Amino acid sequence: MSNLISILDVGDDMDLLLGSAEQLKSERHISNPPLRDKSLAMIFEKSSTRTRVSFEVGMTDLGGHALYLGAKDMQLGRGETVSDTAKVLSRYVDGIMYRAFSHDMMLELADNSTVPVINGLDDLEHPCQVLADLLTIKEHKGHIAGLKVVYVGDGNNVCNSLMLACLMAGANFIVACPPSRLPDPGLTKMAEGMARSKGLTFEITHDAQTAVIDADVIYTDAWVSMGDDIEEDEKWALFGDYQVNSDMVSKAKPDHLFMHCLPAHRGDEVTSEVIDGTNSVVFDQAENRLHAQKAVMLWLMG
Ligand code: CP
Ligand code: NVA
Repeated sequence: MSNLISILDVGDDMDLLLGSAEQLKSERHISNPPLRDKSLAMIFEKSSTRTRVSFEVGMTDLGGHALYLGAKDMQLGRGETVSDTAKVLSRYVDGIMYRAFSHDMMLELADNSTVPVINGLDDLEHPCQVLADLLTIKEHKGHIAGLKVVYVGDGNNVCNSLMLACLMAGANFIVACPPSRLPDPGLTKMAEGMARSKGLTFEITHDAQTAVIDADVIYTDAWVSMGDDIEEDEKWALFGDYQVNSDMVSKAKPDHLFMHCLPAHRGDEVTSEVIDGTNSVVFDQAENRLHAQKAVMLWLMG
């Protein structure tokens, strides 16, 4: 049995998953749905629009059923352990999608579950998001290998998964972030090793203006992630130089893609002009969550 806890879990199946997602996108409603009679439990400790709706609709498209479980409404919210929760849910359902505050809780759930576990975001990674992102890049650029992808902003969960995913797919990757908001050190080491072995560029810089020169893709995310807390003044002092605005994107290639996992905070990490501009593909990314996750569910539960 496999899980999707880290984007690294995809391993050599990246092409297979992206190909399956493309196929599922071209034929939204399959005549003989492959996950008929299967159920997916979806535990949410944090808010969600895209992850919740795309998993639920995706499961319906594939003939199965998804259950929304708000952690506060579960006994989990009253002190039942995550390991007991995993053991109980495994007796009812065929897969568990978990949006967790902590990566340790994610691992504990996976360790105690006898059905596949899918990470729907935790404080370390957001693998489902970056699969949809690769699909989006492939659709718009025709390929991923050899592109220059620049992530600007907070070295957070999305950044961690994205740097690994892009390197796995053969793209060069730059993180431009404040010195105190670096991506995870362990995953950074893995990214460095992967880049070395594949002959790709991987760099962390604090100079966003230089990093975005000739970029094929500029990606940003919220300056303050769910569960993080930061004062307004401190936020601007830390991230002000990392706002993706018209001036910044003018340094990228004219046909660059602007990407954001959403939800966006217009006027903070990105200006409306950029996110609503012709280079922006943010709503394609949101749509592709559905198709990429259907591929993931087939891969793990089919
Ligand atoms: N991008 C993303 O995961 O969005 P939600 O928080 O709305 O699920
Ligand atoms: N980094 C953001 C992503 C939201 C989808 C967060 O964790 O809140």
